[in-house]
Amino acid sequence: MTILITGGAGFIGHTLTRQLLIQGHTLLLVDNFNHSYDPTVKWQHIQDLWHLPNWSLYQGDIRDSEFLNQIFRTHSVDGVIHLAGLAGVRPSLQDPAAYFDHNVNGTAVLLDAMRIAGVKRLVFASSSSVYGIRAGGTLRETDSAEGSVSPYASSKRAAEQLCLHHHHLHGLNVFCLRLFTVYGPQQRPDMAIARFIYQLYNNQTISLFGDGQSQRDYTYVDDIVAGISRAIERVKGYEIINLGSANPVTLLELIALLENQTKRRVPIEWLTEQPGDVPYTHAAIEKASWLLGYRPATDLKEGLRKMVSSYQQHPANGITTSL
Ligand SMILES: NC(=O)c1ccc[n+]([C@@H]2O[C@H](COP(=O)([O-])OP(=O)(O)OC[C@H]3O[C@@H](n4cnc5c(N)ncnc54)[C@H](O)[C@@H]3O)[C@@H](O)[C@H]2O)c1
Repeated sequence: MTILITGGAGFIGHTLTRQLLIQGHTLLLVDNFNHSYDPTVKWQHIQDLWHLPNWSLYQGDIRDSEFLNQIFRTHSVDGVIHLAGLAGVRPSLQDPAAYFDHNVNGTAVLLDAMRIAGVKRLVFASSSSVYGIRAGGTLRETDSAEGSVSPYASSKRAAEQLCLHHHHLHGLNVFCLRLFTVYGPQQRPDMAIARFIYQLYNNQTISLFGDGQSQRDYTYVDDIVAGISRAIERVKGYEIINLGSANPVTLLELIALLENQTKRRVPIEWLTEQPGDVPYTHAAIEKASWLLGYRPATDLKEGLRKMVSSYQQHPANGITTSL
């Protein structure tokens, strides 16, 4: 297939690109290289792909309809994987309007460009944050997603709804994938595990929010990429599908695993709970298994080992630059 990937220079985007190229697809990467984190990190991702054939890069903004229309006029695109957007809960509290502009307006412009071009397959990266604050139990796609507690979560939920409109009105086939905390080599530098590894290796204090008992369903990036690539092959109708590891761990367990992997310890500073953060995520992944044959293959210990080893080999690659 010829697949357009928005946000192709990002953490998940460039990891996905490598995998889809190995599978023989032709890829069009779209990214505006914004300053959500140091853009040189995103250019480094692109640099890492340079030796591979069958892809091209379009530097531009998904909110620019003419820019998108021009790409769709030039190429016969079979499907779109939509990863572009502002990610992360905490910064969304500082600038909610920007989150809605990129994540909601951007999605609306993209959907319209797809409609004009007659492209009928879309996979959209939504987020587990749409489930809001939950005390326990697995999070299922049929659960309510109307109680989000951050502008980021609300923007992802709104974008899911836009996808639903296009399914009903224009026959778009779309899978909205709710991703659960993705980690792995070259993780976004603002995310917790990347920060902790950097702080452990640089003898800096780690700041933790809450009492350390919050739980996250950390999911290795290769498992997420496998789920996304199955989704673009199989997308049909409109579905919301969780992609997680179904194995949540507490923040304290995560820190202990990282100390073990790195053989390092640094002081910990305890701070009050961050507003907007959800205390608990745990994906139900039966639907992903059934529709996509999704089976997460990398457990947290092994995933952290790979991430730490990648950091040791390339300490300046993706983690340190924007801290
Ligand atoms: N990483 C996670 O744990 C996680 C979890 C849930 C959902 N997601 C979603 O998955 C997607 C990818 O996440 P990531 O961690 O790779 O983030 P990332 O920030 O590394 O990648 C997003 C990319 O989109 C680009 N972008 C942003 N706005 C754009 C615009 N208007 N036009 C063109 N390009 C634009 C950025 O420059 C960036 O390269 C995001 O939509 C994110 O919300 C990620």
